Amino acid sequence: MYNFTLHIPTTIHFGKGTISHLDELKNYGQKALLVYGGGSIKKNGIYDTAMDILKKSDIKVSELSGVEPNPRIETVRKGVEICKAESIDMILAIGGGSTIDCAKVIAAGAKYDGDAWDLVLDSSKITAALPIFDVLTLSATGTEMDPFAVISDLTKNEKWGTGSPFMVPTMSVLDPEYTYSVSKKQTAAGTADMMSHTMESYFTKENADCQKFMAEGLLRTMIKNGPIALNDPTNYDARANLMWAGTHAINGNIGAGSEPAWCVHPMEHELSAFYDITHGEGLAILTPAWMEHILNEDTLSNFVDFAKNVWGLTGNDDWALAHAGIDALKKFFFETMGLPANLRAVGITDDKNFDIMAQKACDGSKGSFAPLTKEDIIEIFKAAF
Ligand code: NZQ
Ligand code: ZN
Repeated sequence: MYNFTLHIPTTIHFGKGTISHLDELKNYGQKALLVYGGGSIKKNGIYDTAMDILKKSDIKVSELSGVEPNPRIETVRKGVEICKAESIDMILAIGGGSTIDCAKVIAAGAKYDGDAWDLVLDSSKITAALPIFDVLTLSATGTEMDPFAVISDLTKNEKWGTGSPFMVPTMSVLDPEYTYSVSKKQTAAGTADMMSHTMESYFTKENADCQKFMAEGLLRTMIKNGPIALNDPTNYDARANLMWAGTHAINGNIGAGSEPAWCVHPMEHELSAFYDITHGEGLAILTPAWMEHILNEDTLSNFVDFAKNVWGLTGNDDWALAHAGIDALKKFFFETMGLPANLRAVGITDDKNFDIMAQKACDGSKGSFAPLTKEDIIEIFKAAF
């Protein structure tokens, strides 16, 4: 296990009614920018509840609505402008990963003199940020307890992740009831996303049993509770288990001490950058294709563990077990969770951009578990087509 430093400063308030903790914002100033998406928080009542608490806490609220799924740099710029013009003290994001990611870069942009896109391309330019608070409404990205944000400039087909300790939320409210209204499509995509985060750390050559067994427990939690939430959206325990597992998948715990591969995410970000697809759906399509591509003598034992410890499969033939584990994942994604099974199913109907997407994914990939060349990535895109 490599040396590591882990510092997770986010205060989590988890459970029913914990939105009441928004009154703590008054300790950070008087003016908040409320950031939200296309209106789900108005339909399910979270907006009214939050505004009521903020009003009672004497916090003056400015608003930025309309954050897009796959949030755009143009929306970040609007938020930064408001912060600077109105001397905002803190940001409150209410929504899914897109809204919270957008809020994070707004918070950093408010403390930066140049254009916010600089901060997406070069995280070392993030040297300060306004305090970030959030109420999470979709279990998926783990952004509620991590330093990352992913922002797109679709005019250039660019989608990049950035990260900074300054962008770790100060406080996150995780009320599983707020995810009851999440659609089947987004519940399935969110489950695939958190499973992918876990698997990106799980597939490593390091001997980090503690992290590995935690990852297996997280995957089993997601595999058990994803289908329950899909079929019974107001099942509190299923929503709660998914929410907490999703947070742990990427908060630094299971990736600490090893050098996680993070191979599939860079490939998916290219699909979203070129075709604006739902992140979790792209991951579900690519992950089994990636696994089949990298299964070899060297990686076999990882896939045997995956089959045995995650899917509960048994047998003496390692190769058969490894393939059965990947097949179990496919069945889970494409049958149990109803996720799209190939690129054509999400509207990618030709291969004309595979070359440029593979080049960019290759540049953005660490690929330490099973290094991928541009040609490997093109083959994975073709297999997923
Ligand atoms: O915009 P609203 O109206 O709120 O609707 C959203 C949106 O249409 C809806 N939704 C959210 N909560 C809801 C709800 N609908 C009903 N009830 C609720 N309670 O769901 C739709 C999708 O929301 P979005 O925020 O886009 O989804 P998600 O949380 O999956 O975030 C995806 C974004 O996060 C990035 C992805 O690339 C993508 O841009 N990621 C961020 C990461 C991070 N910060 O660490 C890591 C991830 O790997 C990922 O890349
Ligand atoms: Zn993800």
